[in-house]
Parts: sequence; structure tokens; C-alpha cells
Amino acid sequence: MEEKLLYIKSYGCQMNIYDSNRMKDLLSDKGYKITKDISKANLAILNTCHIREKAAEKVYSDIGRIKKIKDSKSDMKLVVAGCVAQAEGVEIQKRAPSVDFVVGPQSYHKLPEMISKIENPINSDFLQNEKFKNLIFKTSKISSEFLSIQEGCDKFCSFCVVPYTRGPEFSRPVDDILEETKKYISSGVKEIILLGQNVNAYHGVAKDGKSKDITYLMNKISEIDEVKRIRYMTSHPIDMNDELIKAHGNNKKLMPFLHLPIQSGSDNILKKMNRKHTVYDYLGIVDKIRSVRPDIALSSDFIVGYPDETDLDFAKTMKFIEEVKFVIAYSFIYSPRPGTPAQHKDNVDIGEKKARLSALQSLLNEQQFNYNKTFLNKEAEILFEKRGRYKDQYIGRTIYNQSAFTKTNKKILNKIIKVKITDSTNFALECQI
Ligand code: SAH
Ligand code: SF4
Ligand code: F3S
Repeated sequence: MEEKLLYIKSYGCQMNIYDSNRMKDLLSDKGYKITKDISKANLAILNTCHIREKAAEKVYSDIGRIKKIKDSKSDMKLVVAGCVAQAEGVEIQKRAPSVDFVVGPQSYHKLPEMISKIENPINSDFLQNEKFKNLIFKTSKISSEFLSIQEGCDKFCSFCVVPYTRGPEFSRPVDDILEETKKYISSGVKEIILLGQNVNAYHGVAKDGKSKDITYLMNKISEIDEVKRIRYMTSHPIDMNDELIKAHGNNKKLMPFLHLPIQSGSDNILKKMNRKHTVYDYLGIVDKIRSVRPDIALSSDFIVGYPDETDLDFAKTMKFIEEVKFVIAYSFIYSPRPGTPAQHKDNVDIGEKKARLSALQSLLNEQQFNYNKTFLNKEAEILFEKRGRYKDQYIGRTIYNQSAFTKTNKKILNKIIKVKITDSTNFALECQI
């Protein structure tokens, strides 16, 4: 096979990273090798994100940059994949004729065929089941691997494009997931991170023909000896059932970390967002989970400046963050998205939005700093996943998903090692073996 070079860039969420890995695997089967230097590539794929306007616009500026490289060589093809491809389809090629192919997140398994047959340059059908059946699983990092178990969303929060870009909720069969897990552990992977836009709504079929929930799936995965750690994201509060909460108390491999987005601490705003739960419901989940796993580390997502968000609504969000004591959270300024129910209103002043974001982020940073400080001089178990920037430096994660680093001449890569925490900042822990 003639050697061809593939450049691939991922934007957006972990599911896009997973999809990029699958595209790499599909194309490596067709003779492509990965390059980080786009000017050498025969094929460039941008695996895009449509969640906020900034994310989507970044793609067009990257296309502009790539067009110059493409114009200077004749043998390069450019693919736009992912959620912008799904949302904008043909419009992309109207706006950017240098794009050769457009392929949505549910039809990228057709890429090799599309590339060999240039006549069908757009594919944006929702073919979830067919896609997973046609994927190849080769790429493996050393310690921790993402594994998509569920895709799509039926929740339709009023601000969000995901139900339109990823399509309806779809769950992969239990056995397919177990098989994929075994492939990863056979190459040494210790941690499996189960992914889905609504991962805890998982309901895949098992051998007995019955549909199973995520707790069943996690328990099955934890029976595999070589799997040492299990994580899952992203969950929705309304699918946080008692079984899953209990698993945090009795499944030893399930890590004590939960990313559970709420978006706002004000019921008024939650209602407008069509989130289908209240602040009280969320606090009930927090209480239950802390009663089975008191040390659980909680994380969330917040949107500030949603249409009609008042100072009082925002103050409620701040109070809520202090009450739950999130150890980390991601926060965003509201961005009206085409095709969503909330798209036509954006009435909070941008200065006000920025001020709210900055206040919220300082509070979260302070909480994260104080949380990490409580680990000083204590012991911890770290799964060391990669080398750091400096000589003999290694980086890994605690069970609570904090980043931790150390310096040593011992071979600690891909091992779970007991350490002592010697220093802490708001984003990392320094440790000694
Ligand atoms: N499925 C997850 C997350 C989906 S998108 C959930 O149910 O929460 C990841 C995050 O992006 C969201 O949690 C939200 O905080 C943010 N987000 C989504 N749409 C947005 C928009 N239009 N403007 C700003 N932030 C948005
Ligand atoms: Fe988007 Fe809401 Fe679905 Fe999450 S639950 S993906 S925020 S629509
Ligand atoms: Fe972005 Fe699509 Fe993920 S819109 S956040 S890449 S599901």
C-alpha cells in the first residue's frame, strides 16, 4: 500500500476525540499514517463542534488557513466532520469551496468509501447503529481510554444543538462494549471512561434480549480483572437513578467523581431552559450520593447570561455553587444557536455576562484551590498516564480526577502508585513516591 498522510484535529467534547480515534483507525486500515504537520498531509480532517458560536466560527478560520496550504499543493483533500458538518451540511461548501467532503458524526464510517468515490461528497444521515457496526478499534493510549456507549439526546434543552447534531438517543449493545473494553485492556489500558451525551440514559440490549442500564454495564465491566478504574460522562440529573447512586457506594472500581451539569442555580432559569428538574431535585441527588460515598467529588457545567437571567437568578447560582461545594466546573457565556428554541432571544448585556462569568469562575477557582489544599501531606493513589514536559516528570490522576505530577527515575508509566501529596494549586497536585 502506498503511504499517505492524515492530519486530524478535534474540537469540542470527548465524544469527538473518540470519533477522531475511530476515523484514524478506519483510515489507517486504508494505508494512512498520522502526521501532526498539516502541510505534509494528503488528507486533513477537521472534526468540528457546534455547541457555541465561537467553536463553530473557529472552524471557518482554520479552513481559511488550510486553504492556503491546499492551494500550494495538488494532492490534498479537506474533510469537515463532526457537529458543524451535521448542522450546516451543504452550506459549508458554499461558504468554503476548498472543503472536499462533509461528513456528520453518524456517518463517518463511510469516509473511506467517500474518499475513493469523489462523487458523493456529503453524508449527514443518522446511521448510529450502522456506524458502530462498521467501526475499527485500533488506537490505544496507554492508561486510559474513552469508550462511547451512548450517543445523541432526546432532552431538547432550549439552548442546545446536540439533539440536532447527534440525533436521537442511541445505546450500543452490552456485548459490543465489553468486547471493545477487552481490546483496550489487551494493550494495557487500566481505566475506561464511558462516554455519552446522556451517558446515564444508557439502555443497551444484552445477550438475553433485554435492555440494561449503565449500572449493569459498569458492573459487567468491573468484573474484568485488568480494568482498574471506571469513569462516565456526561450525566443528566433526571437519569441519575437510585441504582446508579448505589453503585457509587458498592462498585469499588467506579471512581468517586461525578460530572453532573445543572446549568443554573435558579429554578426560573432551569424552567426556561427546559431542564426538567429543579434545584431541589439536584440537591436531593447530591445528598443521596454523599450518603453512600461521602468523599465524592462533584463537578458541573454552568451557563451565564441565559435570556432573562436577572441578578437574583445569578446570585442563586453563586449560592448553589457554595452550597454543593463543587470541586471543579465548566462555565460558559450563553451563545444563541441556530435551530434551537432559545435562538431568538439574547437579552443580557455582554458586559454583564462577562462580569457574571468572571465572578462565577473566581468562586469556582477558590473552591478548587481550597479543595486541593485539603490533600496536602496526605497519601493518594495515582494512575500515571503520561510523561510531563520536564525530564523524568510524569503526570497522572487521583481517584477524584485531579491532575497530579511527580519527578522520578523509576518506571511508573501506566501504573497505579501510592504517593504523598507535597504541594497543591487550584489545577494540580505535586507528589512524591
Ligand atoms: N449533555 C450534557 C452537556 C452537553 S454540552 C448535559 O446535558 O449537560 C456541554 C455544555 O456546553 C453544556 O453542559 C452547557 O453548559 C454548554 N452549552 C451548551 N449549549 C450552550 C450554549 N448555547 N451556550 C453556552 N453554553 C452552552
Ligand atoms: Fe444538550 Fe440538554 Fe441534551 Fe445535554 S441534555 S446534550 S444540554 S439538550
Ligand atoms: Fe460539540 Fe458536538 Fe460535542 S456540538 S460538544 S462536538 S456533541
